[in-house]
Amino acid sequence: MQDRINQIMAEAKERLAKAKEMKEVEDIRISTLGKKGQLTAILRGMGALSKEEKKQIGPAANKAKGEIEKLINAKFDEVKEAAKKARFEAERIDVTEPGRANLMGVRHPLTLVAEEIKTIFKNLGYEIAEGPLVDTVFNAFDGLNSPQNHPSRDMTDTFYISDGICLRPHTSTVQVRTVQERKPPFRIISPGRCFRCDTPDATHSPMFHQIEGLIVDEDISMSDLKGTLDYMAKQLFGPETKTKFRPHHFPFTEPSAEMDVSCFKCGGKGCPVCKGSGWIEILGCGETHPKVLEVGGIDTEKYTAFAFGMGVERIAMLKYGVDDIRLFYENDMRFIDQFK
Ligand code: DAH
Repeated sequence: MQDRINQIMAEAKERLAKAKEMKEVEDIRISTLGKKGQLTAILRGMGALSKEEKKQIGPAANKAKGEIEKLINAKFDEVKEAAKKARFEAERIDVTEPGRANLMGVRHPLTLVAEEIKTIFKNLGYEIAEGPLVDTVFNAFDGLNSPQNHPSRDMTDTFYISDGICLRPHTSTVQVRTVQERKPPFRIISPGRCFRCDTPDATHSPMFHQIEGLIVDEDISMSDLKGTLDYMAKQLFGPETKTKFRPHHFPFTEPSAEMDVSCFKCGGKGCPVCKGSGWIEILGCGETHPKVLEVGGIDTEKYTAFAFGMGVERIAMLKYGVDDIRLFYENDMRFIDQFK
């Protein structure tokens, strides 16, 4: 019996010495000390032994059990520690390696220009007013005093969704909404997206952006309009910028004008940017037609108004020297990244 105990011990020790994984150690524990383990069997079989034998084998078996338990626990700790070390080694970070740069987003050039114009007008006390992209034909044309036969109403110019509903062809729709929603005096600008049935080319896109402005107050005159827009041009293109107003026609303004700015590239001498003229047209404007104010029930004896509208793409193209409008919509980071 003593031999058997010695043999179990020797075997267990040998296996433990070779064990590298928790599972192996656990197997050794089960096969010696488990319910059906070899040493357990000896301890359980003690009842059948003689008194003499019990005296001898009992303490020997118990001693062996204690010893194996100790060895197994020590091995458990050892294997656990080794596994931890291996994991730390695998997770080790080389702090001297070069880092991976996070790509930072940049603001789109159209956003930059719109933000700049918005800021200029916000500083003049204008509030932002917004309108939907899908609007009524009334807000797009009738409410703006546009004649029934005006060419811009054609199916070939405006995208119609259904009878009386269209994709807005300009941000002037917000003028009609605002005169109905607000009580004068007020001043608003309205940036946003517009749509027209244009075939894309270097200067046309069926989707583009405008910024609309409208101020309604007592004694608003053409000189207020000129002063405001001249100030905007100087803020936007630099203090040397000059402005020129040429008579024009819009159904919703009377008188109407287009504003030119002195070429910020050549200073007015004439260059490819201004096509040799020294001037660049940047917006339409005028004294608001009384019929537009009347849509909102505004007393036109008491209040007068001026309005203006400009294309964001056109200004961005001029300001940044972009020669093809389609570049704005391609989302090519090599293009967009240049305007940080
Ligand atoms: N709505 C005009 C367009 O899309 C631009 C415009 C001209 C707006 C004169 C105005 C204005 O508010 O007064 O071409």
